[in-house]
Amino acid sequence: MKVDWLIVGSGFTGATLAEQIATQLDQKVLVVEKRDHIGGNSYDCYDEHGILVHKYGSHTFHTNSSMVWNYLSRFTEWRPYFHEVRVVVDGKKVPVPFNLNSIYALFPQKYAEKLEELLIQHFGFNVKVPILKLRESASGELSFLADYIYQNVFYKYTMKHWQLDPEQLDKSVTARVPVYISRDNRYFQDKYQGLPKHGYTPLFGRMLKHPNIRLLLNTDYHEIMDQIEFKRMIYTGPIDAYFNYMHGELPYRTLRFEFENLDQEYHQEVGTVNYGLEYDYTRVLEQKHLTGQKSPKTTISYVYPEEYIAGKTDPYYPIPRDENKERYKLYQAEAEKIKDKVLFAGRLGDYKYYNMDQAVARALTLFKDTILGEESK
Ligand code: FDA
Repeated sequence: MKVDWLIVGSGFTGATLAEQIATQLDQKVLVVEKRDHIGGNSYDCYDEHGILVHKYGSHTFHTNSSMVWNYLSRFTEWRPYFHEVRVVVDGKKVPVPFNLNSIYALFPQKYAEKLEELLIQHFGFNVKVPILKLRESASGELSFLADYIYQNVFYKYTMKHWQLDPEQLDKSVTARVPVYISRDNRYFQDKYQGLPKHGYTPLFGRMLKHPNIRLLLNTDYHEIMDQIEFKRMIYTGPIDAYFNYMHGELPYRTLRFEFENLDQEYHQEVGTVNYGLEYDYTRVLEQKHLTGQKSPKTTISYVYPEEYIAGKTDPYYPIPRDENKERYKLYQAEAEKIKDKVLFAGRLGDYKYYNMDQAVARALTLFKDTILGEESK
């Protein structure tokens, strides 16, 4: 078979690039996907009980980028949805990011009022204060609050998720965890938020439906490399695997999902509930809250963080530590040597955690700034 482009992976990165190349350059693309479905980790499907589930963990779409929102809106309508998360602290389920409602749920009224007043006095209203900043700048009652949140919300969850002390992780991880001085329980405040009205998989189906795009599922690209003639490749799999781990493995955390169907309409009050060290799982997910599906039954999934074994389990979260970034740079240097033939992109190709909108933005920019420029030379 002869194509212009071979694209490895059918997640948001691969699908966006395939769509752009097919429609904007009118060139032939073969998308090779080793799983038995399109959509990468954003894939959703109906389980045997008829409930629409996210197979690889809940995916809520949120972005401030009108470029990304408008682009994806060509392939789907949206169901408005604002994600909410609770965390179990002292046996109570309170909102995260930790906000004024969390404080009132956990502390006696008078004390909560005092904390609210102090927080607003120091930082203002409707602002997000990174937990580290609160810890550094606070004194007295606020210092107690900062330690309380750090220990109960951040430390316990981080230890379980990463199996590392927060101190061992990149400072940016701790810096990102905010205390939200607000009554807003939404997990995200982005301008655009929602879920594809009919699910993510139909959205991917529409992106890839073009006469210039061919799709091969259940196929690792190694298996077909010798039989395909192509000008260039876009690789959205793990970059260390591409180079046969020549500089060692890039570390990831992985997750195991245990699904359970229940004979009740809802199991919990919101889509995600986080649990501390007392439980084996970190989260319980219930996607009916996201999808808005009506059914007397529900399906939930328990999320267990696990050690990643290269080539055996799914790589989910690049582990944000300096030494890992250094190792990634060695692979980046290898990629630079072959950039005329192979382009690397995506969460695994760039060894970088991207939200879906960031993966799409990265793909659109790669197309516009690099591919389009080179092709028009
Ligand atoms: P993605 O991993 O989706 O796709 C890569 C594809 O390449 C995979 O399908 C893989 O099978 C394929 N592949 C790899 N090697 C191959 C090979 N050798 N041959 C053939 N195919 C190969 N984001 C967000 O915005 N909101 C959210 O709520 C969430 N939630 C969330 C939960 C969890 C648990 C995770 C891990 C991630 C999220 N995300 C998220 C992030 C989101 O999943 C991410 O942005 C996209 O999956 C990125 O898309 P990519 O195409 O880059 O990778």
